[in-house]
Amino acid sequence: MQKFIVPHEGRVTRKDREGMKGHKSFILWFTGLSGSGKSTLSHKVEEKLFEMGVHTYVLDGDNIRMGLNKDLGFTEEDRRENIRRIGEVAKLFVDAGIVVLTAFISPYRRDRDFVRNLVAEGDFIEVYVKCPLEVCEKRDPKGLYKKARAGIIKNFTGIDDPYEEPLNPEVVVETDKMGVNECVEKIIDYLQSRKLLN
Ligand code: PPS
Repeated sequence: MQKFIVPHEGRVTRKDREGMKGHKSFILWFTGLSGSGKSTLSHKVEEKLFEMGVHTYVLDGDNIRMGLNKDLGFTEEDRRENIRRIGEVAKLFVDAGIVVLTAFISPYRRDRDFVRNLVAEGDFIEVYVKCPLEVCEKRDPKGLYKKARAGIIKNFTGIDDPYEEPLNPEVVVETDKMGVNECVEKIIDYLQSRKLLN
């Protein structure tokens, strides 16, 4: 089937769209354990970027696992498909000239690298939201660690399912040591150092 699909190139390009917005487009990929602070930080960074006049969009559990990916669970295979689809969607946002922030555990290195390789070099910025399991478990904002320890939830990341730490992320924020504003500043500073915001 695929050999009969011929992509149509429009005359309006990503560069044109970026030019209209006045900034570059890229993926800011937050990865980390449940309760590490991915959602909080991605939305705070979005607020900050929005104030700076940057066109943004956040992809997270609410709009993905309840919609596009509601057919997927938490086996290794389903998590891979979850990340693959999110990567493809994020790639479209980049082509649209938008800064897309994603907040998913994305526990497997191979799956994150798949998305990195899906886009041009430099378009994928991995933000490791680092926080020890004990701290995430203590926070337990949704009560899921408790359920996982009780065996009610199976294959819970960090408990009976793996989390592979990024080996060479562009940014690391340690949410057990740094406040939210400090983490946001570190991420924005990185983006500015790469001249991606103007
Ligand atoms: S993944 O691994 O990237 O495909 O996961 P993700 O799409 O980010 O979904 C993680 C959220 O789903 C809830 N949840 C679980 N997490 C981990 N393991 C298991 N088994 C599980 N079951 C449900 C949990 O609320 C995660 O949300 P966050 O925001 O990370 O706490």
